[in-house]
Amino acid sequence: MDRFVIEGGRPLQGEVQVAGAKNAALPILCASLLTAGQLRIRNLPPLQDVATMLRLLKGMGIRIDRGAGAAGPASEVTLSADAVDRLEAPYELVKTMRASVLVLGPMLARFGEALVSLPGGCAIGQRPVDQHIRGLQAMGADIQIDHGYLRAKAPRLHGAHITTDMVTVTGTENLMMAACLADGTTVIDNAAREPEVIDLARCLIQMGAKIHGAGTDRIQIEGVARLTGTDYAVMPDRIEAGTFLCAVAATGGSIFLRGASADHMGATVEKLREAGLSIHEQADGIRADASQRPRAVNIRTAPYPGFATDMQAQFMALNAIAEGSSLMVETIFENRFMHVQELLRLGAQIRIDGHTAMVQGVTQLTGATVMATDLRASAGLVIAGLVADGETLIDRIYHLDRGYEQMEKKLSALGAHVVRQNSSARAVT
Ligand code: UD1
Repeated sequence: MDRFVIEGGRPLQGEVQVAGAKNAALPILCASLLTAGQLRIRNLPPLQDVATMLRLLKGMGIRIDRGAGAAGPASEVTLSADAVDRLEAPYELVKTMRASVLVLGPMLARFGEALVSLPGGCAIGQRPVDQHIRGLQAMGADIQIDHGYLRAKAPRLHGAHITTDMVTVTGTENLMMAACLADGTTVIDNAAREPEVIDLARCLIQMGAKIHGAGTDRIQIEGVARLTGTDYAVMPDRIEAGTFLCAVAATGGSIFLRGASADHMGATVEKLREAGLSIHEQADGIRADASQRPRAVNIRTAPYPGFATDMQAQFMALNAIAEGSSLMVETIFENRFMHVQELLRLGAQIRIDGHTAMVQGVTQLTGATVMATDLRASAGLVIAGLVADGETLIDRIYHLDRGYEQMEKKLSALGAHVVRQNSSARAVT
């Protein structure tokens, strides 16, 4: 198991390239199941979750061509689902990555059946998939739970009017993909408006799908008989970009995020400006300058265009060393404050009351050994380590690797002192 050793206290300075968005890449990879044609996907982030998704798709019989430079992690792949022979997403893969459930809708729509492991619980909360199931049932699917698996059948899906009980990102994506090949028109009300949903819709439209309203809370899909292959570049990762912006706001300094787009970062950019970060949007990226101690900002997570739950932990680290106190309310997941206990070890002053964290900014954090508990919590701990006095050791950094491309390299290029160590040799208790 790898860990990070961070020597804190250095301002960030320089330029980094922002990767393609993980949360757009994963559903777009699944869209390959909807066509026998070749789907070429570019700007793929070389992440563990992307590798897991490719493994899952390969196991189903999808041919994956990594193009030139096949040795390293691919930033581009061509997928051909013309000989799919195993309509199954096994537990071993789904348990490591919940987004695997995104194969359900496409498989069912194109092949009429699917066997997908139920994801089970995860560190940040319950995260059921009942809305995915209900929506597909409304489209005519017969879905049974069988030994921990969803066994779904539908000779042919038909259009339906679906209103989801809550805003769900992967739920919306699963249903939107299924509806592309259903008979007739599907309307998804209370649809997620996240930019990653729009990115998936764009790719599907390029494949021949008839989708209207992606980016609004009502998406209308007119089913077509078949989709074709296409060539699509994944959007930049707004969460990775936001994480680097929080880092520079916390450490001070000046960075340029090449390839980042502020278009979809409204709430994050607004809060960072409120915290005192100066942000300049440019055609080729985002420039940010931090010349003063950040000011504390109140946060309430909400579905897009509200403040992203995936940015909450990073802002918590920022608020921990900010001037003043803040209230942070998590409304999306019930157990997404696990980084708090770790931040306390670094000297942060945070109290939790249910879904609310009260953060009293301190002038200095001090390095300590902490443990990463989930993907975005890890990012928050890295930011805290970058500002803390002395050495911070972050264990279980594999959580971070699921969603950030070589973060230690990118941070080192900005002047931070972050070293990856393989801790497998150590006695771990
Ligand atoms: C996606 C993102 C994740 C982000 C989250 C919230 C991907 C791969 N992951 O996760 O990074 O943190 O959106 O913006 O894009 N819910 C149900 N039943 C369902 C579906 C969801 O009760 O069938 C609940 C969940 O438990 C949660 C809320 O709805 O409380 C939002 O979940 P959802 O948007 O589905 O999250 P994910 O799509 O899993």
